[in-house]
Amino acid sequence: MPPAPTHILGISAFYHDSAAALVRNGDIFAAAQEERFTRKKHDERFPENAVRYCLDAAGITASDLDAVIFYEKPLLKFERLLETYLAFAPRGLFSFFRAMPQWLQQKLHLPREIDKGLGGDYRGPIYFCTHHESHAASAFFPSPFEEAAIITLDGVGEWTTTSWGVGRGNKIELRGEIRFPHSLGLLYSAFTYYCGFRVNSGEYKLMGLAPYGTPRFADLIRRHLIDLKDDGSFRLDMGYFNYCQGLTMTNGRFHRLFGGPPREPDSEPTQRDMDLAASIQVVTEEAMLNIAKHVHRETGLKNLCLAGGVALNCVGNGRILREGPFENIWIQPAAGDAGGALGAALWCWYQQMVNPRAPQAYDSQHGSYLGPRCSPVQVREDLDALHAIYETYDNEADMAAEVASELAQGRIVGHFAGRAEFGPRALGHRSLLGDPRDPDMQRRMNVAIKFRESFRPFAPAVIEGKQSGYFDLTAESPYMLLVAPVREERRCKLTSEEEQLSGLAKLKTIRSELPAVTHVDNSARVQTVSKTRSPRFHAILEAFEKRTGCPVLVNTSFNVRGEPIVHSPSDAYRCFMFTDMDVLIVENCLLRKSAQPPMPGAEEYRKTFRKD
Ligand SMILES: [Fe+2]
Repeated sequence: MPPAPTHILGISAFYHDSAAALVRNGDIFAAAQEERFTRKKHDERFPENAVRYCLDAAGITASDLDAVIFYEKPLLKFERLLETYLAFAPRGLFSFFRAMPQWLQQKLHLPREIDKGLGGDYRGPIYFCTHHESHAASAFFPSPFEEAAIITLDGVGEWTTTSWGVGRGNKIELRGEIRFPHSLGLLYSAFTYYCGFRVNSGEYKLMGLAPYGTPRFADLIRRHLIDLKDDGSFRLDMGYFNYCQGLTMTNGRFHRLFGGPPREPDSEPTQRDMDLAASIQVVTEEAMLNIAKHVHRETGLKNLCLAGGVALNCVGNGRILREGPFENIWIQPAAGDAGGALGAALWCWYQQMVNPRAPQAYDSQHGSYLGPRCSPVQVREDLDALHAIYETYDNEADMAAEVASELAQGRIVGHFAGRAEFGPRALGHRSLLGDPRDPDMQRRMNVAIKFRESFRPFAPAVIEGKQSGYFDLTAESPYMLLVAPVREERRCKLTSEEEQLSGLAKLKTIRSELPAVTHVDNSARVQTVSKTRSPRFHAILEAFEKRTGCPVLVNTSFNVRGEPIVHSPSDAYRCFMFTDMDVLIVENCLLRKSAQPPMPGAEEYRKTFRKD
């Protein structure tokens, strides 16, 4: 009999985006974020549902686990909290007291909390690695590289906010770091807060808003807030920030510097907000490039791996790839703290247990399709319970052709099939799809489907190998983490009046053959879709190309504003029924809106998910 496989469970929890990941003999076997199960966005509680899913997927119980590892070291983090408080005391007393109960009840007693979360069945060791070791491991170990430089760019973990090092074979060596309070992630979050978006959630919106503005505040930021040094490091002037001692990110001095108080969350973004977004985006990109150049000088390596929340800044990533010194880059798709669970488990297998590592040609992330899959029986049970009317397809090619035909007629299709994605982006398995050539598609999808801000751009999914025909991108971008310009010859010539438009008025212009996925600065956040990783999504793209000549679709996450990505067929059906979606695919079932019986509850549904 072969020896029993080794199972390692990684956990991230108690900050935001809690998650669990299971590594079996070094293979990334399953990973999921708790919010998908509980339907509470960024859920930070112990990931009991995600853990249960991981164990069930492997057919084991907690008692079969060989090791459990937590993604950061709570005592070090507590030390940071305490020292920061003492440095600013008595200021910060209120936020200190606010944080204390959770520390005293849970965070300082993690072994007990983990034991409780695992139902008291686990008897093995519980390990801890540091926050940045988790991020670094999640960036390097799944990558296709035998050796690579590693950069983690983040808000803050214990003390570290940014780190860099080298990965070789099965070993990571972190060589440099920048420590709290000097943090690129927290600087970006400060502007997220100041521009009226929610911290740890609205950073993506700020990035989407940036192309509507001009970076007229960039010099002010460089002169007063951040000092970028030649060795790749940076320092913030803490006289402008409040996150060490208060409950807000910025203070009165910051507000005076930029000429006013923070934007009210529900008000329309003004041109000033757009200019602020453009300014902090440009400075962040400079800081990212600066670090990349330094790490390249120090390591001389041609490959780079990235993780940490700032590595979700796909505009910055695209610039590192195009303008930076590295030949290849690989970015962990779950770059935020959820991915820490995966990194911690990999850290345990390679770094602690010293197991050999064989990098795989593409990568070892399995397309990041690491979450639960719904069985055909479960799908039918769920749909029948909802009295849904559906057709069933036995042949994948027929299904793909039908979906392509609907898309080509301008319909918006919700697609729910295969294993769920791990990471914040939907990569075709829990996605809304549309025709990118349709000039009205962006507005329809934003306003009538997702009930979200009209300025937010959509991403193109393109058949792998065909990206360079539409975008200035030859590299693969399977995880939608690289932004590239739309090719010059695909763009439309703008009239002089259109060139003069500013702010949200820019949305009205048709900029390319693919207006729904071309941002106002002619950029696009590209996903390349491979046949091996996602055969169904690839088949839909091919069928759409056969019908229209266009190998590109709009791909956005299957949810409404403020809702976690849909998790069950009934989540998908409700979202389908209560929005202007036309067609829903759940595995091999096809549902048309016009055939469904009426469903009450649309008003409540729209109120369920708080504004994000
Ligand atoms: Fe982090």
